[in-house]
Amino acid sequence: MCVKILGTGRSMPDKCLTNDDIAKIVDTSDEWIKSRVGIETRHIAENETTTSMAADAAKKALIRAKVNAEDIELIIVASVTGDNAVPATACQVQDIIGATNAMAFDINSACAGFDVALNTVIAYFGAGIYKTALIIGAETLSGIVDWEDRSTCVLFGDGAGAAVVQYSEDGLADFIQGADGGRGAALNKPNAPVKNPFKKGTDKETGLYMDGQAVFKFAVKTVPQCIEELLKKNNLEKDDIKYYIIHQANKRIIQSVAKRMCESEDKFPSNVSKYGNTSGASIPILLDEMNENKMLNPGDKIILCGFGGGLSWGATLIKW
Ligand code: COA
Repeated sequence: MCVKILGTGRSMPDKCLTNDDIAKIVDTSDEWIKSRVGIETRHIAENETTTSMAADAAKKALIRAKVNAEDIELIIVASVTGDNAVPATACQVQDIIGATNAMAFDINSACAGFDVALNTVIAYFGAGIYKTALIIGAETLSGIVDWEDRSTCVLFGDGAGAAVVQYSEDGLADFIQGADGGRGAALNKPNAPVKNPFKKGTDKETGLYMDGQAVFKFAVKTVPQCIEELLKKNNLEKDDIKYYIIHQANKRIIQSVAKRMCESEDKFPSNVSKYGNTSGASIPILLDEMNENKMLNPGDKIILCGFGGGLSWGATLIKW
C-alpha cells in the first residue's frame, strides 16, 4: 500500500473574527480564549458554502499537483456540515471541477474525517481499484454551533483543505483507525427535524453540544496511543517521524499530546491560533500551509492524526 500526495490546496472564508469580536456576542474574553485553547481568530463563512470552499481548495490542489480533473478516479469529501443531505458534497465538487470520470461520496467521521478519507483511499489503492484520488475536508461549523453557548462557539471556524493523492511504488502508507459510539454523546448535533405527520413531539433544532472535559481526556489519551501503535506496527521509532500533523482542536490538547509522547512541540506544527477548530478541514489546511512553506521534503515520514465526534479517530503514516 503506497501513496504520494501530489498537491494540496486550501480555501478560507474572507471574514475573519477576532476573540474581541466574539466577546460582543457572548460573555467571554480574548484572555480566556487564548489561555484555554490558544485561538486568536477564526474565519466564518458569509458568502462561502461548504461546497464552494471544497471546490476552491480542490482546484488549487489539482493545479499544484499538475493533474487534470478528468484524471481523478475518486473524490471523497470529509464533512459534518455538507450544504445538502443529498446530493453529497463530493458529487457537487465533481460537477464544479469537471472531474467527470470520478466516483464521488462523502464520509462523516467529524474531526477524524480527513484521516478516514485518506485511509479509505489507501484501501482502494491497495485493492488495485483506483490510482488517483482527490480528498477534501470542508466545514461550515458556524452553521451548527450554538451561538449562545460560550463554551463551544468560541472554538470553531470554517474552511476547507484538499489533497490530490496517487498510488506510487515509491510511497508509504499505513493506518489505524477506530470508533467508540458508546461515548458519542460527548460531542453531538442532532439533525434539524422536518414537520412529520407520523411523529409526535415538538423537537426543536439545537446547536452543537460538547462535554469539553470528556473530549479533552479522550483526545490526550487516544492520540498518543494510536500514534504509538502505528509506529510499533511499522517498526519505526519516534525519531523516524518528521512531523505529527494532528487535528487542530486546541493548543492545550496539542501541548498535552506532545508532552505525553515525550516529543518536542516543534514536531507538532499548529495553526489553530489563526483558524480555530475546523473539524475535518483542519489537517488538510495545515498540510497545505506546510507544503506552501516548504516544510516537507521528499522522503519525510509524517503521521496525520484526527480525533473527535463519534467518538472516532484515525492515524495515517505516509512518506512525503
Ligand atoms: N469564556 C469565558 N468563560 C468560559 C468560556 C468562555 N468562552 N467557556 C466556558 N467558560 C467558563 C465556564 O462557564 C466555567 O465557569 P464557572 O466555573 O463559573 O462555571 C469555567 O469557564 C470553566 O468551564 P469548564 O467547561 O470547566 O472549562 P474547562 O477548563 O473544561 O475548559 C474547554 C473548557 C472547552 C477549553 C476544555 O474542556 C477543552 O479544551 N476541551 C476540549 C474541547 C475540544 O477541543 N473539542 C474538540 C475536539 S474535536
